[in-house]
Amino acid sequence: MTNPAEVDAVILVGGQGTRLRPLTLSAPKPMLPTAGLPFLTHLLSRIAAAGVTHVVMGTSYKAEVFESEFGDGSKLGLQIDYVTETDALGTGGAIANVAGHLRHDTALVFNGDVLSGADLGALLDSHDNHQADVTLHLVRVGDPRAFGCVPTDPDGVVTAFLEKTQDPPTDQINAGCYVFKRDVIDRIPKGRALSVEREVFPGLLADGHRVCGYVDASYWRDMGTPEDFVRGSADLVRGIAPSPALHGQRGESLVHDGAGVAPGALLIGGTVVGRGAEIGAGARLDGAVIFDGVRVEAGAVIERSIIGFGARIGPRALIRDGVIGDGADIGARCELLRGARVWPGVSIPDGGLRFSTDV
Ligand code: GTP
Repeated sequence: MTNPAEVDAVILVGGQGTRLRPLTLSAPKPMLPTAGLPFLTHLLSRIAAAGVTHVVMGTSYKAEVFESEFGDGSKLGLQIDYVTETDALGTGGAIANVAGHLRHDTALVFNGDVLSGADLGALLDSHDNHQADVTLHLVRVGDPRAFGCVPTDPDGVVTAFLEKTQDPPTDQINAGCYVFKRDVIDRIPKGRALSVEREVFPGLLADGHRVCGYVDASYWRDMGTPEDFVRGSADLVRGIAPSPALHGQRGESLVHDGAGVAPGALLIGGTVVGRGAEIGAGARLDGAVIFDGVRVEAGAVIERSIIGFGARIGPRALIRDGVIGDGADIGARCELLRGARVWPGVSIPDGGLRFSTDV
């Protein structure tokens, strides 16, 4: 069996996170606060808890932010190296690009935006038992069409990679976590952009490599869209999603130090209130992700939405399934429903907007 201390972890964190704009204009997606911590802290704690000690982070977009937050990793019991792509190399190119920094014969590769409870030791054991070149963590989802569908034969050997197909033959999808034999990584072409999902994996199959799937039923969510980010955050707050980085009681809401919540405000649905935020009397927050320094005025209603750093939501405004950029100012009684996104620093006057994609 592979000793986790003899495995490198590689985390891909170089994407631009376009689906989470405008929040990702100021911070890369893996650094967005989630249940009060930069998202990546949850993943790094999971890696440390599994007994893996060496981490290589593949950075590109806003690369410097990661090192200033995590440094050498010692606070988390890890040793972290950073490898930066000047021009983003894609998920496959990023893996090839870190090859020179690996210390061991086996690497666990993670997308840096997945919230998961998969047992990493069991994943490594499955890789060993199957004598695989590469093993993918697979999860079953209700609608596989938006994901990479990965059918396997009865022995767990992957038979195809079908990216975002309209006619998926199985509900198993690529969960964004892989075990690679080191020499397979060494053979990925270097110095050019390529996708691990669309190019590297199909290429490995075509070349006769042994690619296997490890399917489990652990908690899993790709945090790439506002809807999933809100759900994942609420699941962390409520204890539905596991994270070794979170201690103590979990419940319907999480209010951080220095935040003020006026009497009569209702915080439910896994709402999180950031440091120094102020929530006014009679406000109702249901599944809201409130970043640090936000002001929510009296009687405002925020449902399943993310409110960026330092934004203000005016009295009796209603935000549902929306994303409000850092420092934006939403006037009293505005209604922003279903997919509304306000860019950082934008001011909307009192009563100035009712937006919904509903007919
Ligand atoms: P979208 O633009 O919203 O699709 O987000 P994204 O740029 O993060 O892309 P995606 O969700 O497909 O990326 C999955 C993971 O790979 C994320 O953790 C990204 O940070 C990471 N990633 C994507 N592209 C690159 C890249 O070119 N280089 C590196 N190092 N990481 C990448």
